[in-house]
Order: sequence, then structure tokens, then C-alpha cells
Amino acid sequence: MNIAEQHLLKDNLLENIQITADTLGDGHLIEGDTLNVLSKIDDDVVNVGITSPPYNKQEKHKGWLVKNVVYDVYKDAMPEPDYQQNQVDVLNEIYRITAPGGSFFYNHKIRWEKGNMYHPMDWLRKTVWTVKQEIIWDRMIAGNIRGWRFWQVEERIYWLYKPIGDHLIGKELQSCDAKLTSIWRGVPENGRKNPHPAPFPLWLPARMIISILGTEAQGIVLDPYLGSGTTAVAAKLLGHKYIGIDRSEAYMEMTCDRLEKAQNEMPKIHEELALRDVQTTFKERKSKGKNVGKYRNTVDDKQTKLFER
Ligand SMILES: C[S@@+](CC[C@H](N)C(=O)[O-])C[C@H]1O[C@@H](n2cnc3c(N)ncnc32)[C@H](O)[C@@H]1O
Repeated sequence: MNIAEQHLLKDNLLENIQITADTLGDGHLIEGDTLNVLSKIDDDVVNVGITSPPYNKQEKHKGWLVKNVVYDVYKDAMPEPDYQQNQVDVLNEIYRITAPGGSFFYNHKIRWEKGNMYHPMDWLRKTVWTVKQEIIWDRMIAGNIRGWRFWQVEERIYWLYKPIGDHLIGKELQSCDAKLTSIWRGVPENGRKNPHPAPFPLWLPARMIISILGTEAQGIVLDPYLGSGTTAVAAKLLGHKYIGIDRSEAYMEMTCDRLEKAQNEMPKIHEELALRDVQTTFKERKSKGKNVGKYRNTVDDKQTKLFER
């Protein structure tokens, strides 16, 4: 049986099905509208979710400074209040299907429309989630030639948390994950390798899954706007189950194809895992008289260079 036969479901055939952890098998890919499909999933099923929703970029208004993102079956242009309300509804449904203690990573960006700034926190505070952290994704992209603002080279990732009882803080991260810091530097996926207009690079969902679930016990990973399937590929390669939703048949086919050949993407997972290697322990550094003080990120980044001059 191929991946599509094993995992692909259509929203309109789900009428009388409730998706539960027991019926999930290795995972489900569901072609349909996110909000509608989420309503068919049982409470408390998911351990970690990751997504980049459509950003409501009103592409028809964009000028020549910004490359348009054009989706297969979806026009990314809703009235802004409707868009924000839809995101609140989607995020609250995701909260319902997430197990207490579970996390959701929401990738978005600050946008401007006719001079007004829209910040993701504008609607995140209207959801039931506890906002645990804002992570800056420095995409290390070249700026435009001109700009009305300083070139926006970053996106944001919101780590949302579903508390257990009233303990809002949750469990401590492992040091090997926490040391990756709240600024993640990494280029977006190469458009020549992935024809989807806005795919994640594989390291991004892999980093979130490893930090929350590790690779030992098997968890359930959700991406409610799956696109080309990057989150499902990362989940599979790290030994977890997945639930992926997208309304585009073409992107679902792309995902099935990637999942069939997932092993080819394993080197990228190894690169991400290797960032957690502990090269020298505290004891070894101390015995050699090396730095045992505060941790300093040793990534050779542009920013450090700027201030070294
Ligand atoms: C930013 S892309 C996600 C890309 C993905 N992270 C990847 O790695 O390829 C957003 C996706 O949301 C899908 N989409 C937009 N509105 C949707 C809706 N109402 N229901 C389901 N999918 C939707 C689009 O088809 C698109 O593939």
C-alpha cells in the first residue's frame, strides 16, 4: 500500500468519523478546510503542533518590492477582521485537541496594510493559549533595494502552551535545546527544490519536535496548514505520528511523494540533531582551565562580526 492509500482522507468523507489517538495508525493526511477538519478530531489527541498559516497578505495589492506568494486553490486575501477571527477560532480548536502539557508553534510575521501594522499578538491574546515565548526567525535573506521601513528579514514563531491544571510554566527544556536561543538563524527552503510557494525548511519543524518530544517516546504531531508536508516528513523521520491538513489536492500529492521518499531528507535531520551535541562537558572544560562561566552562543553570525570591528 502506498502512502496515499494508507493515510490520505478527504474532508467530505469524514462526516461520521471522529479521529482519535487509537484510530490514527502512523498518521493521517486530510484534504479539506482546516477549521472543519479540526472539529472531527477528538479532545486532547495532539502532543505538539506546528504551522505557518496563510498570512492574509492581500497579494493583489503588493507592489514590485515583494515577491508574491500565490497558493494553488487559496486566495490569501480576507478582510483583516475576518482573518483574525478565523485564526482565533482555528487556534482555539487546536487547543481543544491538544493534550494538557502540549505545545503549538505558530509561525507568522508582522504585516502592514495601508500604513497600519498588524502584529500576531493582536489576535493571539484573544485565544485560550498561554503564550510561552516569541522566537525570532532571522531568515538571513537579502534585503530589497529600496524600502519604506528597515528591511524585514525576520519572521516570528510563537510557542503556545496548554497548561496542566493552573501551572502555566510547564516543564523545563533540556539545556541542549535551550542553548539554541530565542533567535533562530536559518535560510528559508530553496524554491528550486520545493515548488510550494512558502515551504518550511526541514530544520524548523524538526527543531520544535526534537525540543518538545525528543526521539524516544512516540508522540502525535499536527500541522493544520500542511502545504508540501514538511512537518509530516520531520515527524516521520523522528519516529512520531502526524496529522496534516491542507485544502489543496496538489499539495497533498506533493506531501505523499515526499513521505514515500522521506529517507532522502534524513541528512537534514542529522544536521539539526548534531546542534545538540555536547562537545566538551563542564568537567572537561574545568580540568583544562577553559571557560566554565556563562554560556555564550558560539555561532559565527553576522551580528557578532559587526560589533567585533
Ligand atoms: C504557508 S503554507 C504552509 C507551508 C508548509 N509549512 C510547508 O512546509 O510546505 C499555508 C498552506 O495553507 C493552505 N490553506 C490555506 N487556507 C486553508 C484552509 N482554510 N484550510 C486548509 N488549508 C488551507 C494553503 O493551501 C497552503 O498550502
